[in-house]
Amino acid sequence: MRIQAEPLTGLVTDTLTRAGAEPEHARICAEHLVGANLRGHDSHGVGMAVSYLRWIAEGRMFPNRHAKVAKDSLAVLVVDGQFGLGQVVAGEAMEIGIARALQTGVACVALRNSCHIGRIGAYGEQCAKAGLISTHYVNVVGHPPTVAPYGGREPRTITNPYCCTIPRADGRHITLDMATSVVSAGKLRVAYMAGQPAPPNALMDGQGQPTTDPAAFFAADPPGFLLPFGGYKGGGLQVMCELLGGALAGHWTTQPESDRHYGATVNNMLSIIINPDALGERAEYEAEASAMIDYIRSTTPADGFDEVQLPGDPERASMAARLADGVPIDDNTWRELAEAATSLGIDAARFAAD
Ligand SMILES: NC(=O)c1ccc[n+]([C@@H]2O[C@H](COP(=O)([O-])OP(=O)(O)OC[C@H]3O[C@@H](n4cnc5c(N)ncnc54)[C@H](O)[C@@H]3O)[C@@H](O)[C@H]2O)c1
Repeated sequence: MRIQAEPLTGLVTDTLTRAGAEPEHARICAEHLVGANLRGHDSHGVGMAVSYLRWIAEGRMFPNRHAKVAKDSLAVLVVDGQFGLGQVVAGEAMEIGIARALQTGVACVALRNSCHIGRIGAYGEQCAKAGLISTHYVNVVGHPPTVAPYGGREPRTITNPYCCTIPRADGRHITLDMATSVVSAGKLRVAYMAGQPAPPNALMDGQGQPTTDPAAFFAADPPGFLLPFGGYKGGGLQVMCELLGGALAGHWTTQPESDRHYGATVNNMLSIIINPDALGERAEYEAEASAMIDYIRSTTPADGFDEVQLPGDPERASMAARLADGVPIDDNTWRELAEAATSLGIDAARFAAD
């Protein structure tokens, strides 16, 4: 089925509100999730709402909490997410970091103890809207590891996303936003729900054999695991996200002595936010960056390519298409979402019919 962004946002907002979130917090979270769907990242879209509702009901995620500054020293801020709705507390942490970077030229924000913050590109875009460059190293905790290190046969980390956003005056920001595993766990969930295979060379089964069956990842005993992208280089970035996002910002990694059974997905994120004005004439920098971006785009496409895209281009194309045609939702995801809404007294079909 396809559903337009607005009623889908309404459905998720109302459902989270019934689950106890303030309407404003519910709306921020719903807009973020639908924003991920619009950009083509169904892995981090409304399908996640079902997990959020479960974590709220289980008392692991606390919807109305705010980001709390735990340490403030010049350009460096430690912000505690207090296990609140990730999209709310991470957005608040970025607002604090943006204000500081505008004052000092650079801000380093260590966000810890935030429940799942979703699509990391949203925070890069938030900084870009204020004209700021940002880079984000994220780790994932609260569950046993699911991603093997480069060259390893057992999982040691989770999908550890990395993001860097370069703002552009025309709003066509360059946003590199990715899991450091070949695919995110959410993309395996989407493939599993839709009865589709996982991409090759991404997944091993519980016996350590390559597979494209996403069910292997969700098997109980022993579960399959993901591989890092890009050989030892991607494996290296995966480690940096764990050490910077996890150990430095969060004081919480996936090593065996830390809490690996919290029961909700928790993200820790180290964000470095840079004000280009602090490094000299912004106009000069922007002109140089634009000239380089045009030069990159001007290369002759290789066989099999229509054009050279830059990070952020696929998301913009998806957004234009899905705003026009609606967001595709597979039957299993819709059924789970509708059941969760019904259990809170909301008729999901009413939104689908809008
Ligand atoms: N919160 C969490 O715990 C968590 C964990 C993992 C991933 N995530 C999120 O999952 C989402 C999906 O991650 P992913 O790794 O599946 O993303 P992806 O593989 O779809 O895209 C990765 C990046 O590559 C760029 N890209 C894609 N195709 C391109 C092309 N042909 N040319 C140039 N650039 C191209 C995209 O613009 C994007 O910046 C991200 O938003 C990420 O933040 C979140």
